[in-house]
Amino acid sequence: MKVFEMRGLLIIKLGGSAITDKRRGCVAKRKVIDEISGEVAKVKERLILIHGAGSFGHPIVKEYGIHLGFRNRSQLTGYAETKYRLTELTRIILEALRSHKVPAAPFMPSSFMVAENGRLLKVEVEPLERLLELGLVPVLHGDIVADTKMGFSVVSGDQIAAYLAEKMNARMVIFGCDVDGVFTADPKTNRKAELIRVIKLSTVKDVMRSVGGPAAPDVTQGMLGKLKEGLRLVEKGIEVVIMNLTKPEGLTSIVEGRDARCTRFVPN
Ligand SMILES: Nc1ncnc2c1ncn2[C@@H]1O[C@H](COP(=O)(O)OP(=O)(O)OP(=O)(O)O)[C@@H](O)[C@H]1O
Ligand SMILES: [Mg+2]
Repeated sequence: MKVFEMRGLLIIKLGGSAITDKRRGCVAKRKVIDEISGEVAKVKERLILIHGAGSFGHPIVKEYGIHLGFRNRSQLTGYAETKYRLTELTRIILEALRSHKVPAAPFMPSSFMVAENGRLLKVEVEPLERLLELGLVPVLHGDIVADTKMGFSVVSGDQIAAYLAEKMNARMVIFGCDVDGVFTADPKTNRKAELIRVIKLSTVKDVMRSVGGPAAPDVTQGMLGKLKEGLRLVEKGIEVVIMNLTKPEGLTSIVEGRDARCTRFVPN
């Protein structure tokens, strides 16, 4: 049963930096989330949303050393606490999507994904694919998943976005965060940083060298992690954009291929 066969697949990562205050524990930016939901409601393609953890995840993951893998049972308290907080953030997002009449439903990555050394190894995509075909909008998040080597590991929303894009042959992946795209240096700490509007496969390695880690706690390499995931996708011919989702009005232009302030990855 294929309902939307002709439509492309769009994957949008709602970066934790855009939807939470990464410097204060568990504070969601509800106004931004509401505005994003309003823009998302206009999308006509098949759509998967993946939210980051922001301050609902990274600090507690760090505190319990969860990103290092399973070492002792006391980490399970941190695991449970992280999941509890993530669920709370998912709920806030679902609430906003619901108010804009987006038929969204949560999919918890840890219940259908297994990683090996922090990289996704097995993903049961069938339920996701089938419900997506009907027009449902699955909402996933960066998660702590079972890991064949580490016991468990943190798999970023960025990685999940890239994995699903490849596996499900997405047309475009948008990584939304709280800055306009990739800059020559972290724009939050360097006033001279300039936006890099186009990253080509041939120049991405140079760009990576100049990109620092995250300014706020981020156990999945911040902007550098996004660049690495994006690189894999451009190599496969999938469009990749990094944009500022605290200004979600740019979303429609980007989805429709019109000019907008962001960073686009292009093949050479
Ligand atoms: N060269 C750079 N260009 C742009 N941003 C940079 C650069 N170097 C570092 N950053 C930082 O990267 C951050 C975005 O990555 P980060 O992982 O913190 O956010 P996120 O992925 O949206 O959050 P989450 O991981 O919780 O989903 C920006 O807030 C910015 O401060
Ligand atoms: Mg991140």
